[in-house]
Amino acid sequence: MTLALITGGSEGIGLELAKCFARDGTDLILTARDMEKLQKAKQLLEDTFAVDVTVIGKDLSLPHSAAELYEELKHRKIDYVINNAGLGTADAAWRIPPEQDEAMINVNITAVTVLTSLFLRDMLERNSGTIMNVASTGAFLPGPYIASYYASKAYVLRYTEAVAEEVRGSGVHVCCLCPGPAATSFYRKSRQSIPAFAMKAEDCAVYAYEKMKSGQTVIIPGMINRLSRLVPKKPAMYFVKKMKKKKGAVTNR
Ligand SMILES: NC(=O)c1ccc[n+]([C@@H]2O[C@H](COP(=O)([O-])OP(=O)(O)OC[C@H]3O[C@@H](n4cnc5c(N)ncnc54)[C@H](OP(=O)(O)O)[C@@H]3O)[C@@H](O)[C@H]2O)c1
Repeated sequence: MTLALITGGSEGIGLELAKCFARDGTDLILTARDMEKLQKAKQLLEDTFAVDVTVIGKDLSLPHSAAELYEELKHRKIDYVINNAGLGTADAAWRIPPEQDEAMINVNITAVTVLTSLFLRDMLERNSGTIMNVASTGAFLPGPYIASYYASKAYVLRYTEAVAEEVRGSGVHVCCLCPGPAATSFYRKSRQSIPAFAMKAEDCAVYAYEKMKSGQTVIIPGMINRLSRLVPKKPAMYFVKKMKKKKGAVTNR
């Protein structure tokens, strides 16, 4: 039996990825903060698929939380680590409370780095395993009015691509998922509205799962999202700025 750890596996893209693993008979460990949502996800997955699901309540914005999570799990042989938990902050950089940015950086950057580093050691000893870190198409450009979030995802993309190169040929696969807009609670939580062209979280996860299994390093679901990588920085930045203002994600100024 194979085993996958998915951070932020209680809803959205993480839960849809969990369904992909469960469909293939992979047992799951799901983490998030809200235990009620985690229990619902466990019930849904265990009722639908013949898998065993462990849930762990963990706030990854807290110092040392990622290392604590590894300590809790290091005795288990984990075949897949999906660093999916993430959140956004959207407004002018100077209006976002610093503690909100700090919490986001802890989840989006620190936890991803610590969990990658710790689980990678075990995987390299076994010469097998897969780590998929979730970035965003926001990683491809500077994002006015969503600056720290886009920058956090640029870190995830560059970090993951570099680590993937370090372990190439070892039997361990490291890859980065860069979703474009997907219809999840992510937008409500960061006080943004879901873009009209957002993908279904399920479609995003199914594509990501297949490409991860096929050994791809950078995974971008959706043709338009793949093409967006080619747009020059200035017009891309201008588009993001206009869109964020129009959608009311930012205080009028
Ligand atoms: N939706 C999009 O358009 C989109 C686009 C590009 C990239 N992404 C990325 O995709 C990933 C999944 O996003 P999503 O859209 O599925 O969002 P979502 O529906 O809001 O789910 C986020 C998950 O992360 C968990 N989480 C949030 N803060 C956490 C914390 N402090 N500690 C531990 N877990 C935490 C949430 O559970 P709790 O709240 O219970 O902790 C939830 O399980 C994120 O990394 C996001 O940045 C999303």
